[in-house]
Amino acid sequence: MTDPKPQSPDHLAEQVAAAEAAAADAVAGASSPAELGRVQAETVGKRSAFARLNTTLGSLDPDARRTAGAVINAARARVVEQIEARRVVLAAAERHARIEAERLDLTEAVALAAGGESSQPVLRGHLNLVTQTRDELEDTFVALGFAVAEGPEAETDWYNFEALNMPPAHPARGMWDTLYLKLGAPETVLLRTHTSPVQVRLMERQRPPIYAVMPGRCYRRDTPDARHLPVFHQIEGLVVDRGITFADLAGTIEAFTTSFFGPDIHSRLRPSYFPFTEPSGEFEVTCPICGGDGCRTCSGSGWIELGGCGMVDPNVFAAVGIDPDVYSGFAFGFGIDRLAQVRTGLADMRALLDNDIRFLTQF
Ligand code: DAH
Repeated sequence: MTDPKPQSPDHLAEQVAAAEAAAADAVAGASSPAELGRVQAETVGKRSAFARLNTTLGSLDPDARRTAGAVINAARARVVEQIEARRVVLAAAERHARIEAERLDLTEAVALAAGGESSQPVLRGHLNLVTQTRDELEDTFVALGFAVAEGPEAETDWYNFEALNMPPAHPARGMWDTLYLKLGAPETVLLRTHTSPVQVRLMERQRPPIYAVMPGRCYRRDTPDARHLPVFHQIEGLVVDRGITFADLAGTIEAFTTSFFGPDIHSRLRPSYFPFTEPSGEFEVTCPICGGDGCRTCSGSGWIELGGCGMVDPNVFAAVGIDPDVYSGFAFGFGIDRLAQVRTGLADMRALLDNDIRFLTQF
C-alpha cells in the first residue's frame, strides 16, 4: 500500500475516520486475547494506518499539522480504549471457559453406576443401626404423646448423682463406673453415666405436667465386651403430673412395648432398686428372637430385661423444688444399643463400632 498524501484537512479527516472504523471492526472481531494482541499491533502499532497518517503531516504548515495530529491522536486513543474494553471481555470469557473445562462432573459417575454401560451398584451410606433405633424410639414415644429433650454429656456430680438421691459416698454410686473429667475440684465433673440427669435438668426448667423422653450418649469405665460398650446410648422417660400412679407406669411400658415391637411382644415388671425411684422395678419384654418360647438370647426364659423404672422418689422432687404432695411421677431408662442388639440377635455389641461395611449394610 502506498502512503496517501493528504491533499487537504478534509481528505485527512476522511482517512482518519476510515482507519478508525476499520480498527473498530477488527477489535470487535477479535475472539481471543491472543488475537486481540495481533489486532492491537495492526491498528495502533508502529505500522498501523494511524502511524502512516502521522508520517504524512510533514507536508503541512505548522498550524494545520497540529490540528491534523490532534485528530489522528484522538482517533487512535478511542481505538486504544476499545481494545482495553474488549480485552476485559475476552479475558473473562477465557477464564470462564477454562473453569467449565476443568469442572469435575461427579453426577456422571452416579448416572453411569445407576444404569450406564459399566453399571455398578451405587454404594450409599445410611444411618447406623443405633441411630435408626433411637429415631424409631423417639417416633414411638412422640406418637404416645411424649416430647423429646436432651442434656449435656459432660455433667456435674450434682445432676448425675446427688440430685438423684445419691449423696457423696452413697454406696449406690458403685452401680456406675464413672469417668471423671479433670475440671474444677476433683470428681465434680464427669461424663454422664446414664441419661437420668436430664430428668433433673428438665424438672428444673419446666413445671409439671411433664411427659418427655431423653435419648443420648452415656459413658462408663467398662471394658468393651459382647454386651457392654464404654460409650453407649440410653433413653430416659419421665412423667410428672397430678395423680400419676404405678399403674400408669406399667400401662405406659406395655403401650410402648406393643407399639415398638408389635402386638405379640409384651412387658412385665419385677422388683428392683434404684436410688431415684421408690418403688423401683426392672422391666422385661417377651424375647423378640424366640417370641417367648425360650432361646439362647433369653437364656431359655422367654423374657429379656430391658431397663429400670419406678415412681420418682420424693427426694428427687425436693432437689428440684416440685411439691410431692401435689405431684407424682414415674421414670424409666434403658439402653438403646442393648435394645438394638436384642432386636437383631446381634451376638457381639462391638460390631456396632467396628465400621465394617459388611456388617453395617445389613441394617
Ligand atoms: N439410670 C438407670 C441406669 O442407668 C436406669 C433407670 C432406672 C432410669 C430407673 C430410670 C429409672 O429413670 O427410673 O441403670
